[in-house]
Amino acid sequence: MSAYQELAADQLRELKNQLDQEYKEYQSKGLKLDMSRGKPAPNQLDLSMDMLDSLNSTDKAVSQNGTDCRNYGLLDGIPEAKKLMADMLDVEPEDVIVGGNSSLNLMYDTMARAMLFGVPGSEKPWFQCENRKFLCPSPGYDRHFAITEEFGFEMITVPMLPDGPDMDMVESFVKKDESIKGIWCVPMYSNPQGITYSDETIRRLAALKPAAKDFRIFCDNAYGMHHLYDDDQDHVLNLLRECRKAGSEDMVYIFGSTSKVSFPGAGISAVAASALNLSEMKKRMSIQTIGPDKLNQLRHVLYYKDVNGVNEHMRLQAQIIGPKFQIVLKTLKEELGGKGIAQWTNPKGGYFIALDTMDGCAKRVVQLCKEAGVVMTPAGATFPYGVDPQDRNIRIAPTYPSVEELTVAAKLFCLCVKLASVEKLLSGK
Ligand SMILES: Cc1ncc(COP(=O)(O)O)c(C=O)c1O
Repeated sequence: MSAYQELAADQLRELKNQLDQEYKEYQSKGLKLDMSRGKPAPNQLDLSMDMLDSLNSTDKAVSQNGTDCRNYGLLDGIPEAKKLMADMLDVEPEDVIVGGNSSLNLMYDTMARAMLFGVPGSEKPWFQCENRKFLCPSPGYDRHFAITEEFGFEMITVPMLPDGPDMDMVESFVKKDESIKGIWCVPMYSNPQGITYSDETIRRLAALKPAAKDFRIFCDNAYGMHHLYDDDQDHVLNLLRECRKAGSEDMVYIFGSTSKVSFPGAGISAVAASALNLSEMKKRMSIQTIGPDKLNQLRHVLYYKDVNGVNEHMRLQAQIIGPKFQIVLKTLKEELGGKGIAQWTNPKGGYFIALDTMDGCAKRVVQLCKEAGVVMTPAGATFPYGVDPQDRNIRIAPTYPSVEELTVAAKLFCLCVKLASVEKLLSGK
C-alpha cells in the first residue's frame, strides 16, 4: 500500500470502510487492555522477592560503620548504600545523599526548598521571583511538569531532538532571562522517547552560562541502568563530572532510584550534587527528618551486593521486557511502516516508546483506543500543561501487559492510528 497521503478521496473512503469493519470486530471482543502504565510487570517484581529474606529477625541490622540500622540517624544514608547509589549514578559516595522510597519525592522536596529558601547562589527564595520560568524539554515526563506547574513556574517547551533538548534554544533562553530558574532533563533513555543525550549535549549543558545565578539542572537519571539489550546499549556522560570540569558543579542535581530495579514505591532513592548543594540540602533535611529508612537501604545492599549485582539483575529484567518492546516495534513496522502516517522511536532502554501521528490525530487515536478497550496515556500528557501543540505525540508503555495482551493491544493501537489518519485526510478533501 502506498502512503495514505497519495490516496484519492474514493480510495480513502473505501479504506475507511474496511478499517471501520475491523474496528467494530475489535469492539465486539470487549477488550480490557492497558498500554499506559509505565511500571514493571509482576514477573519483574518476582525477581526481587528474595531481597525480603536478605534481612531477618535473627540478623544483626548493623551497617558497615557500626550504625544500628534499626535506629535513628545517618541523615544521608548508610555508607554501603551511598556507595551502591553512587556507583549507579556514576559519581562518588561523598557526592550522594540516599533518600527514601522515591526520587520524585526528592525532586519535589528539592524544588519546594528552593521555593521556600532558595538555593546556594539565590538572592531570594524562588517564590519571590514573580515571573519564574522553567525549561521543559518535550515530549517529557508529565510528573516533572506537574511539579513546576504546581509551584507556579511558567513552563517553556523546548523541543527534544534525537540527541537531547534543542541546546541552541536552551542556551539562548538561559543567557538572557534571569527568571529562568532551571531545566528538567532525563539524560538516559528519556521518558517517553527513550532518547539518550549525546556527549555534546551534556557538555553544552555543563557549559551553560545562565543569567540566573541560582539556575539548576534537575537531571533525572531514572533509567540509567535500564538497558533493553545486552549487545546494544547507549552511554551517557556524567553531568556532575562535566559540570565540575566546566566549573559549574553547583548547577546540577542528579536524581535516581531503584524503583524500576527492585520495587516501585519500596526502593531507595538518591540525589547527587556538589558539596555546597549537599550541605545546604542536609541542613534543611535535618529539620524535616531524623533519618531515612536504613533497613531498606541495608536490604538493597545485602541483596545486590554492588553495582555489578544490579547490572546482573537488570539483565534478567531486560529478558522480560526486551521481547515486549520487540512485539510493539514489530507491529508498528508491519502495520504502519511506509504509510506516511506515523513515526516512532526505537529505544535501547527505558520504559517507553513514543509515537508521533500526523498532526492533529493523537487525541483521536487515544479516544478510539479507549472506546475499543485499550487504555493509552492521555494525548498531551507528555507536554507542559497537558497540551501537545501539534496533537501528535503518544506514549506507549509496553512493560506491564502480558505478551498476549500486548500483541492484541499493539494491533488495535495501529488500527486506531490508521483510522484517525484516514479520518483526518478525508476531512481535508
Ligand atoms: C523519568 C522518571 N523519573 C522518575 C520516576 C519515578 O521515580 P521514583 O519511583 O523514584 O519516584 C519515573 C517513573 O515513571 C520516571 O519515568
